[in-house]
Amino acid sequence: MKRNVYRHLVIPSLVLFALLLTACQSKEERFVNRLMRQMTFEEKLGQLNLLPVLGEITTGATVGEYDLGDRIAKGEVGGLFNLKGVDNVRNAQRIAVEESRLGIPLLFGMDVIHGYETIFPIPLAQSCSWDTTAIRLAAQIAAKEATADGICWTFSPMVDICRDARWGRVAEGNGEDPYLGSAIAKMMVEGYQGADLADSTTMMACVKHFALYGGAEAGRDYNMVDMSAYRMANDYLPPYKAAVDAGCGSVMAAFNTINGMPCHCNKWLLTDLLRKQWKFNGFVVSDYTGILELIEHRMGPDLETVGQRALSAGCDMDMVSEAITMNVDKHKWKENKKRVNEACRRVLMAKYRLGLFDDPYRYCDKERRATDIYTEANRAYARQLATETFVLLKNDSSATTNQPILPLSPTAKVALIGPLADTRSNMAGTWSVAATFDYKTVRESFAELLPQGHLFYAKGSNVEYDQQLQQRGELFGRSIWDERTPDQMRAEAMAAARKADVIVLAMGETSEMSGESSSRTNLTMPKAQQDLIDDLATLNKPMVLLNFTGRPVVLLHESEVCDAILQVWFGGSETANAIADVVFGKVSPSGKLTTSFPRSVGQEPLGYRQYSTGRPSVDGQFVKYLSCYLDESTLPLYPFGYGLSYTTFKYGECVVDDSQCSVTVTNTGKMAADEVVQLYVRAQYSTLARPVRELRGFKRIHLEPGESMEVSFAITDETLGYYNDKMQFVVEPGPYEFIVE
Ligand code: BGC
Repeated sequence: MKRNVYRHLVIPSLVLFALLLTACQSKEERFVNRLMRQMTFEEKLGQLNLLPVLGEITTGATVGEYDLGDRIAKGEVGGLFNLKGVDNVRNAQRIAVEESRLGIPLLFGMDVIHGYETIFPIPLAQSCSWDTTAIRLAAQIAAKEATADGICWTFSPMVDICRDARWGRVAEGNGEDPYLGSAIAKMMVEGYQGADLADSTTMMACVKHFALYGGAEAGRDYNMVDMSAYRMANDYLPPYKAAVDAGCGSVMAAFNTINGMPCHCNKWLLTDLLRKQWKFNGFVVSDYTGILELIEHRMGPDLETVGQRALSAGCDMDMVSEAITMNVDKHKWKENKKRVNEACRRVLMAKYRLGLFDDPYRYCDKERRATDIYTEANRAYARQLATETFVLLKNDSSATTNQPILPLSPTAKVALIGPLADTRSNMAGTWSVAATFDYKTVRESFAELLPQGHLFYAKGSNVEYDQQLQQRGELFGRSIWDERTPDQMRAEAMAAARKADVIVLAMGETSEMSGESSSRTNLTMPKAQQDLIDDLATLNKPMVLLNFTGRPVVLLHESEVCDAILQVWFGGSETANAIADVVFGKVSPSGKLTTSFPRSVGQEPLGYRQYSTGRPSVDGQFVKYLSCYLDESTLPLYPFGYGLSYTTFKYGECVVDDSQCSVTVTNTGKMAADEVVQLYVRAQYSTLARPVRELRGFKRIHLEPGESMEVSFAITDETLGYYNDKMQFVVEPGPYEFIVE
């Protein structure tokens, strides 16, 4: 009887259930499941392996210590990264598709961080435009260019919030504010991925570095992070979440630990928060050797153990470490079979969404290389965006004309001086992997614009006195060391300056003095350049500083001796043209800082979102027993949100009702210009101490001289709420104060 019940009821129900399950699966799930049924365990592990490319790949060629072509053919590789050139990509893909048993295509990733060959300003600079639509378009163009060269996956956006200027990677992110950072994260994902990942002009994004990498203690790269849940949820996590909510296809784990647990094996982070709470459905990739480094973190004695830990915590793909495919006892991996299947499914799903199973050469259209990359239109756009990212920090009036020093007259006699005035390779900034450096230097763009005989150039100094120190910021063949003595160079600079009406200094950091592994403990202008500024100052001529840096720096001295300071960051391919556009008044500067410029390195970490203290300082000044310093103001030299213009804006009264807050802004000057209107909120009462003010809205507007515009911000729960110490979003009754400026 029992047997009959089994045969007549249980078996048919099971079959029905299985059929129903299959019917409920999407087309992509069915495809991937079918494929996975054919895969061996080793082939599944192979999909989790992401390798760098250090040379050309052909079957038989040796890359590193192994034969990469051979390994692709054996199904031991899921993806490659930083392989440039459509022919190279096509070749590697051909091996995967034609020579591996199941013909599973590879993913091709790259650090397309701020443009492909058309390089846009570094991300920190882009954030200073507050122009999220423009940033999205830059990401879209980057995707169009990269995909024309075979790349279908970028390791961007980097959305690590950072308040510590000592950390070099502040250059790669969007500054210190989580609200602005979230808005940019969303737009960048949209820009890269578009509406359809399978479109051959869009690529998959990878939000990084998950999580809190920008909180590295003491601003030292790769250092630990120790942070309360309250702080994480409000100040650091929102941009990652915004990227996930925007549908970002992948997430990269961060090198740091969080409260003692390295991110790469942090189950709370990679599974509980990311998967269960945020519902992320893409895959998690490790950072470069991030899994191997777990040994250094004492998470296990060998690669095999730490690989297991990373996988079971939620890491799906292994960049470089080969903890998953090599040097491991494959039998032990079987204990983790469920996770291997899950991770493999996620990687295959991404390949499916990218359309690689339909056409593995989808991103290998040779024709597109000629039409889509580094085009006139893309470069023109990069130029326009760069002008939006420059921040005018100071612009005093000349004693003789009573007019602001900037913009300069295009007929002025200009002495252009500084180690960065005539260097091509330093304009693009850090992480410009695919740059071709086929663009102008500042000297060349000025020479094009000024009348014959009006430009006097001198390098003036090296970046640093110490050659070894300078070399640390000159990776990738970007050396600009000059063998002449400081006196020789200085004499040349003084002679050039004497002939001119105005001195323009192109100084600051070389491009690799910020970025990865470029932490600094001293944030002032390197001494070699500072001494040159002081010598030039003795000539009593107007001095304009073009400050090239990938981070906020201490400009206290320069703000005393220079008449004008334009923070130009690293503006990408079109830096030089964009600088000329702004310096000579074709465009008004409109950038606003997204990262506070300190008065002293001792103030770091520094940001405007300071949490309240019971003893706040008054105007930053020292008063005994208040929260301040004996020897320095607590205020930044140039705060978050700050930036001057060639015109002036007047803000009317801020009118608030239950649903919105509005203000009328008028251009009261003589030049058409953009302005970034910012809304800050302050809770009068709250359950937990909150920042003294928080950005909760912004709009970038354009106003002709004399023109007025009413700018409104909707007041919603998002405007008022915050995360409590249980990481739950709460909205409290307030009352609230609104500040628009
Ligand atoms: C960086 C990542 C980058 C990766 C691949 C790592 O060192 O931390 O941001 O995507 O290298 O190049």
